[in-house]
Amino acid sequence: MNPGSRIACVTVGLPATGKTLIAQKVCRYLMWLGIQTKVFNVGNYRRKLHGAHQLHDFFDPANPEGERSRREAAVEALNDMIYWFKKEQGVVALYDATNSTRSRRDMLLAACKKHDIQVMFIESVCEDEALVLHNIMSVKLSSPDYKDMDPEQAVQDFKARIVHYREAYETITEENLTYIKLINVGSQVIINHIQGYLQSRIVYYLMNLHIAPRSIFFSRHGESLYNVMGKLGGDSDLSARGKQYAKSLPLLIATHLGTSEQLTVWTSTMKRTIATAEHLTYPKLAWKALDELDAGVCDGMTYEEIEEQYPEDFANRDDDKFNYRYRGGESYRDVVLRLEPVIMELERQRNILIIGHQAILRCIYAYFMNHSHEKLPYIKIPLHTVIQLTPRAYTCEEKRFKVDIEAVDTHRPKPKAGAPKSESESVVEAAEAAAVKKPLGDGEDMGAATITTTTMSTTTFKDGAFHARSK
Ligand code: ATP
Ligand code: F6P
Repeated sequence: MNPGSRIACVTVGLPATGKTLIAQKVCRYLMWLGIQTKVFNVGNYRRKLHGAHQLHDFFDPANPEGERSRREAAVEALNDMIYWFKKEQGVVALYDATNSTRSRRDMLLAACKKHDIQVMFIESVCEDEALVLHNIMSVKLSSPDYKDMDPEQAVQDFKARIVHYREAYETITEENLTYIKLINVGSQVIINHIQGYLQSRIVYYLMNLHIAPRSIFFSRHGESLYNVMGKLGGDSDLSARGKQYAKSLPLLIATHLGTSEQLTVWTSTMKRTIATAEHLTYPKLAWKALDELDAGVCDGMTYEEIEEQYPEDFANRDDDKFNYRYRGGESYRDVVLRLEPVIMELERQRNILIIGHQAILRCIYAYFMNHSHEKLPYIKIPLHTVIQLTPRAYTCEEKRFKVDIEAVDTHRPKPKAGAPKSESESVVEAAEAAAVKKPLGDGEDMGAATITTTTMSTTTFKDGAFHARSK
């Protein structure tokens, strides 16, 4: 491995200025692109070494015992990070802590230099007191640090913690350092000494992030004639049921969007997604990048035909669906790369409805919901269903609205290893069921950092009325 391609992104900032969220998002984005990335959260090391219930005086720079303990946690996280770079071929680490003094940053710089790891600082400066208070209320109160504490007392304690950090805070000014400084959630951005492709990608990504409330809606096109025949790809029209679904969409979207909200509809350039958007009156944009995964020589065939005519390819795809590339076509990995500009634009936008295709929506959904490449090609995105994702502090809340218009099921589960072909129960489904709550990584305040148990409310659409029911 070229040592130059290892980067430690070191967060800098007062408490509750979004560092953990930024670290987790960068990690999720790079992992989705296939870059080996990991978050090292010093708060977790502190809790492990010194317990979760430290009050504000622990963080007082005039408290030598607290200072020593915090340094110990920082060193242990640093050592783990260096070990991970060396032993697990890590490429980007997010070293998530306040790192708010020069001496702490100098210690990190020296250790990284010794191991040929580049350091890129990500400083978040937030002068908006109301936002900081909102951050305390929305994420810090549910932190293990304040478990079982009266919320009012917890807010006061967290504010006192910030005051201690402010006393010792030194913003980055050194001209020789590589850094990006995000001021007031990116309303001003300062970049210094950014080098190379990966650092530039991270900077570009960070410049596009916002935290304004919004939802992203996903829908596959209405059932197509090819879907009914079990054929892959093509550019067929909607079936009669697909057309009915298209007619039902405006009311469904309006019901869940909120009256004063704006929305833009993105489709692919294929007939079936454009026809599905036909009755929607919002601004629309057709993206070539949203066209369905190209099945190459298998375009227009059924799975059975592929199995018969290209048995080796069929088996290879079952073996490693994410990486399998159709002859003359694409793999899921290819699709992820072609969707990267779509993800970047999605980060910049507010409410968006994407009317897309099965493989495309799996890739985009996996980005937001942090699914692995192995799991991604088996994610269930059924026809005639709208999925609403609403970003919350560290996660996305999910709602699914199933429209009561029948459609074929195009999901082909991963066959169990060694099972006869007919027995294709999904092993991924079993894994999904076992992982209802999956830790996100090493983010701070992991009490809040499990994927929100997905709220799966289903709405059926019958006779022009919505009937909501919870699963
Ligand atoms: P701590 O130092 O206590 O770990 P932190 O800086 O890591 O705090 P987070 O836990 O990431 O802060 O705070 C998450 C909250 O910050 C979320 O509610 C998110 O909306 C908000 N947030 C995200 N980005 C920013 C930003 N650039 N400035 C201010 N707040 C932000
Ligand atoms: O069957 C509908 C479809 O959108 C096809 O056009 C496409 O090839 C397929 O789904 C993608 O799903 P999978 O990767 O599971 O074959």
